[in-house]
Amino acid sequence: DAADKGGWSSFMAKEINEQPEAVENTVRGRVVDGLVDIPELSALGDDRLREIDRIIIIACGTASYAGQVGSYAIEQWARIPVEVQLSHEFRYRDPVLSDRTMVISVSQSGETMDTLMAVKYAIERGVTTVSVCNTQSATIPRESDAAVYTHAGPEVAVASTKAFTAQITALYLIGLHLGRVRGTLSAEASAEAVQQFAELPEKMREAVATHEQIAQLAHWMADTRSVLFLGRHVGYPIALEGALKLKEIAYIHAEGFAAGELKHGPIALIDHGQPVFVLVPSPRTAPLMHSKVVSNIQEIRARGARVIAIVEVGDTAVLPYADDVIRLPLADALFEPLLEVVPLQWFALELSTAKGLDVDQPRNLAKSVTVE
Ligand code: G6P
Repeated sequence: DAADKGGWSSFMAKEINEQPEAVENTVRGRVVDGLVDIPELSALGDDRLREIDRIIIIACGTASYAGQVGSYAIEQWARIPVEVQLSHEFRYRDPVLSDRTMVISVSQSGETMDTLMAVKYAIERGVTTVSVCNTQSATIPRESDAAVYTHAGPEVAVASTKAFTAQITALYLIGLHLGRVRGTLSAEASAEAVQQFAELPEKMREAVATHEQIAQLAHWMADTRSVLFLGRHVGYPIALEGALKLKEIAYIHAEGFAAGELKHGPIALIDHGQPVFVLVPSPRTAPLMHSKVVSNIQEIRARGARVIAIVEVGDTAVLPYADDVIRLPLADALFEPLLEVVPLQWFALELSTAKGLDVDQPRNLAKSVTVE
């Protein structure tokens, strides 16, 4: 068993560490002459892809947050409206579907019953179904019109890590493929995204290397009973994912918020010593969002919050207001989530460990939920 963990203390630790390769392997073979080309999507026929006028991403849990991150990129590159729905909610709203709708399911296992039933519902209504899945020949990809596999390798820990970053990667590739086929993606934007993917594994290694700093932080915070996470734009689903990880394996109350929503309610929760992780957008690529998030930090700090800021290296604007600063390598705005989530994964793992819990096998949870 210890050998399976490759010297790591848990499968989750091993899998966090494997993320640079998970992402690299998911991109491999899908970039041709500097352009994203996914053979499984090409097989659907370019005409069919050009006709798509709406995308619905369906998923549960961590996969749904990957879907939310992906929705920003697909809209930006392919200019198709994208919404994300939880699989178990999808059917019950009598969704508006047509033969020009594409439903993209996201599932690590490919066996989650809620998602499978939603996919079957979509198939019955004649929409195009695409499966983003990490498990070869699982039921969901077999039922779908096209399968775009993530190549993260087997994920053992119940709390999903490398499958999540691989899912975001696959959704981005789908966005780039659709953008190319539909002519909405400039050659420049395409080249920039491909370049970002090429640089990503090395940057993710640096994100993984925040482990020691995060372990120290978690050690100090072992008695914490509630943690909040704030993010804007693609940082928002990462805030939700950071909170979910803490609930899953550290059994701590945690909530993620859109930073802009703070003043509409959640700020009332801020009290002396309340830990808040803030995902700070880049001041270079997103100056407007950056300054808004910095003022959010000032607001919560003035009310006593303990601020843990996750920033890009060189961002000094937050220094006067942050109790802890975690620095990540520079990346384009859409690629920041793939780095930002890593310290949050480590934080959940280290807090769980500090509390003496079983990181890989949290109570009441299953890796794959095959009942509705
Ligand atoms: C379970 C797991 C979660 C996972 C969710 C979706 O609830 O505990 O970690 O995110 O299922 O799983 P899937 O295999 O569909 O990605």
